[in-house]
Amino acid sequence: MNCAKITDDFRVCSPPPGAALDSFPSLLSETGLYTDISTHNIGPGVEAYTPRFQLWSDGAQKSRWIMLPAGQKIDTQDSEVWSFPMGTRFWKEFRVDGRRVETRLLRKTAGDDRSWIGVSYIWNDDGTDAYKAEWGGINVNGTQHNVPAAAECMGCHGGRQNRILGFSATQLSGDAGEITVAEAIEREWLSHPPTPLLPLPGNEIELAALGYLHANCSHCHNSDRPNDDKQRCFNPKKDFSFLLTSEGHVDETETYQTAIGKVIERGDASGSRVIREMEKRGYHQGMPPLGTETVDRQGVETVGRWIDAL
Ligand code: HEC
Ligand code: HEC
Repeated sequence: MNCAKITDDFRVCSPPPGAALDSFPSLLSETGLYTDISTHNIGPGVEAYTPRFQLWSDGAQKSRWIMLPAGQKIDTQDSEVWSFPMGTRFWKEFRVDGRRVETRLLRKTAGDDRSWIGVSYIWNDDGTDAYKAEWGGINVNGTQHNVPAAAECMGCHGGRQNRILGFSATQLSGDAGEITVAEAIEREWLSHPPTPLLPLPGNEIELAALGYLHANCSHCHNSDRPNDDKQRCFNPKKDFSFLLTSEGHVDETETYQTAIGKVIERGDASGSRVIREMEKRGYHQGMPPLGTETVDRQGVETVGRWIDAL
């Protein structure tokens, strides 16, 4: 996906091809997530899961589901970049104050990893169905919640080779959630089951902070971003990376190797650019620059406590 040519502002994203979006059903009830949307009964082959580290979305509660095409496996030859079979679908539901506001859908429309198309469905006032909203929405259903336009999905998802951010070896590590790596192996979902299962590095404080940066920042700040997307909107320079994988000691993680001494000052959270950016929000300032309007106080504390202890 390219940024608009008429401006060099990296924040302007261009939409996916209209024909691709037209092929998405106009109602959420027709996407396969539910057998019956009025009872919220999940359809056959649809499985709930929970990533170990989550993206802050201004306090919205979220649920997530995957549907792998029957009998197909995830290509896990590259243990960090899982490649999903064509036809795979992911949904993510957002609730504000317990009320459904939007459900996002990502669908792989061809065999290659660039062919993920995403769009959100905004729930109607009485919660009976949700409508395809390719232009997104501002303050939907009387809440402060903004729904991203289809053009904005790749602002974050385009930052990883395989486009999927919360269903990976790192995000399914540990024993939390409905589907773990061990569970995926058990179900024979992985083409190359990892053996042995390595734990993520770091003590409790380190892991909480590295996991937070992984889930909230690494889709944009990582050294392995797809090269074919040089023009991608919200594309920072590759000068530091917040990716977290299970390889090696904590000192060998990308955050320790590339960000400490650059945007993280040992022992000085308030003097670190990472914290100063996380504490800001507003037009053209603050990090992340997309998907949030409220500072994540708990997130600032989690990362700050680790930096102060460095
Ligand atoms: C601000 C960055 C950002 C934007 C913009 C964004 N997403 Fe995501 N999305 C994420 C992250 C990070 C995750 C994984 C972590 C989580 O689920 O908490 C995720 C997870 C998902 C998932 C579950 C599959 C996965 O990749 O883990 C779906 C489905 C999804 N997003 C759909 C969409 C759609 C559709 C859009 C556009 C309408 C969109 N997202 C826009 C960051 C973003
Ligand atoms: C949607 C993509 C995106 C996400 C997510 C994101 N960033 Fe950024 N970040 C950028 C871009 C683009 C720039 C550089 C351009 C700019 O700031 O105008 C940047 C710049 C920065 C800088 C300033 C670097 C400098 O040289 O001054 C810091 C620090 C930073 N980000 C930290 C973070 C942290 C911490 C997070 C997560 C809490 C995060 N970013 C999440 C896109 C992103």
